[in-house]
Amino acid sequence: MRLEEDGAAVVLLDQRRLPDEVVEVRCTTAAEVADAIRSMVVRGAPAIGIAAAYGVALTALRGDDLAAAERVLAASRPTAVNLPWAIARMREEPTPERARALHEEEVERCRRMAAHAAELFQPGTRALTHCNAGGLATGGYGSAVGALRAAAERGLLERVLVDETRPLLQGARLTAWELEQAGIPHAVIADSAAGSLMARGEVDLVVTGADRIAANGDTANKIGTYSLAVLAAHHEIPLYVVAPSSTLDRETPDGSGIPIEERDPAEITTRFAAQNPAFDVTPAGLIAAIVTEDGVHRPPYAESLK
Ligand code: MRU
Repeated sequence: MRLEEDGAAVVLLDQRRLPDEVVEVRCTTAAEVADAIRSMVVRGAPAIGIAAAYGVALTALRGDDLAAAERVLAASRPTAVNLPWAIARMREEPTPERARALHEEEVERCRRMAAHAAELFQPGTRALTHCNAGGLATGGYGSAVGALRAAAERGLLERVLVDETRPLLQGARLTAWELEQAGIPHAVIADSAAGSLMARGEVDLVVTGADRIAANGDTANKIGTYSLAVLAAHHEIPLYVVAPSSTLDRETPDGSGIPIEERDPAEITTRFAAQNPAFDVTPAGLIAAIVTEDGVHRPPYAESLK
């Protein structure tokens, strides 16, 4: 993801076509960047924030209406707080330099939180992850996948089970692709296999990213994370959330205030009526630790995340 040197376009890797095709999309207006976010050319909470920051810089370079650009970008997806966070950071200085710095800072936060998260792994850890919280989702390195990479580098990771993550298969297409590139042993599983594999003792920990973490630690992430958290609690397996501080929403007291995106039912089926909530909220009580660039935060999160 980048803003072209001459500022003519924001260039995004089209994540919808991975891993089969590596194709870039050029966006020449904020409205095109917003469309790319909505249609998930680019997805993942930190990544859509960075894309929006580049969209704001592009708007300023073009001399277009900045307030209108902010509105269209902010409305593109509702759940990840990184989107309004990044737009707010661009307000004082809507320049390419600011957007590129924000991008670099986000990747640096990933590296720092991955190092903290690696402390939660023991030699031989068998992890399970959901959705894609890798470099694709964060502008580089990754949050949950960053933690897996850091653990693997320290020789602590035996293998990763990757939920396929219905309906858009971010796990089966993107996380598996990233783990393959990193040389980390992994196996894709049907989402519904997680409980049975936990019962068989094949999972030591669950690690995910986040789209928005409320002040009390309630965490919105890809639909299915809540189910995993309930299963993990039943099997006394820790679930860890790894996310940068740009994903913390201190203005929202708890998960009931987090907007949950409803996506096109056609992503599930076009043959029957369908319902397609894209995210769910995992109550803080089911999360063993939240790892940010500042360290490993334990409950009660209202205190430890302050
Ligand atoms: O709908 P998506 O693919 O944008 O959902 C992404 C997730 O839920 C990720 O787990 C989350 O954004 C964390 S990315 C570091």
